[in-house]
Amino acid sequence: MAAAPDRFKDTGRAAPRRTVFGEVAEAYDDGRPGYAEELVTEVLEYAALGDRAALEVGAGTGKATGLFAARGVPVVCVEPDARMAEVLRRNTATYPHVEVVAGDFEAWSPGGRDFGLLYAATSWHWVDPVRRWDLAHSALGPGGTLALFWNPVAAIDPELFAALRDIDRRHGVEEPPHDALASRYGEEAGTVDGQVGPGWPVDEIRRDGRFTDLRTVRYRHNLRYDTARYLDFLASVSAYRVLPERHLRQLLLETGRLLDARGGAIDMLGINDLVLARTV
Ligand SMILES: C[S@@+](CC[C@H](N)C(=O)[O-])C[C@H]1O[C@@H](n2cnc3c(N)ncnc32)[C@H](O)[C@@H]1O
Repeated sequence: MAAAPDRFKDTGRAAPRRTVFGEVAEAYDDGRPGYAEELVTEVLEYAALGDRAALEVGAGTGKATGLFAARGVPVVCVEPDARMAEVLRRNTATYPHVEVVAGDFEAWSPGGRDFGLLYAATSWHWVDPVRRWDLAHSALGPGGTLALFWNPVAAIDPELFAALRDIDRRHGVEEPPHDALASRYGEEAGTVDGQVGPGWPVDEIRRDGRFTDLRTVRYRHNLRYDTARYLDFLASVSAYRVLPERHLRQLLLETGRLLDARGGAIDMLGINDLVLARTV
């Protein structure tokens, strides 16, 4: 599961780190990996929604939204970044049961609607740590399902991994997406430290005391990215977005040269870590 970074961390630029994605909304949409169909099946079986709607926090460009909407689930998406929301609207234009609401989750109110499921795909760590569990409870009635998931990737080849890390270090990247080699990911959700911190958010859910039926699942699949897609991916990751412009440009140049010299692609392990819990 993802580490919980400080959402108010100073980025060295004007914007807080959680708002950097919209700067590259199209590259984000092209470069970021999606989520496994099995994960969606698991969430929907657990939630047994019936005709109740789902609430999605931080929908971004809709990488998870499309999967739930395609199963016929009505989804209300809360997304604060207008540029991400524009791509989200385009990606879900064929689903009349998807509603996009602009704004932070902290400022949103369910307005008397009963949601059977709240899900957040690679976004729960950006929600105010002090308020996020209360907010989840306000959105969900008793017996509602909370589904939080993340999709880290990890390079498979140790030599390539070392070379990527070397470029990162030289350009001052903290918490890169290839912080751990694929072989360090176990079978169980949350078993690697670094980008995926063991314990979080499971420890917070347990401490909260208002959730039950906690379940975690890890899905693993192979991913092959060509150089261009990998550079789009890196350019969409907050750890890279916050670099000074000249470092980012140089880092992408060096990473592109490295991958091109090694066949123009990178093989990665794609992970989907899912945490499910029910409100009591
Ligand atoms: C890493 S992206 C994940 C987007 C999408 N869910 C996905 O899986 O590709 C994080 C998203 O959370 C949004 N976000 C950040 N802070 C938020 C907040 N306080 N409330 C709701 N969404 C937030 C960002 O604008 C961004 O679109």
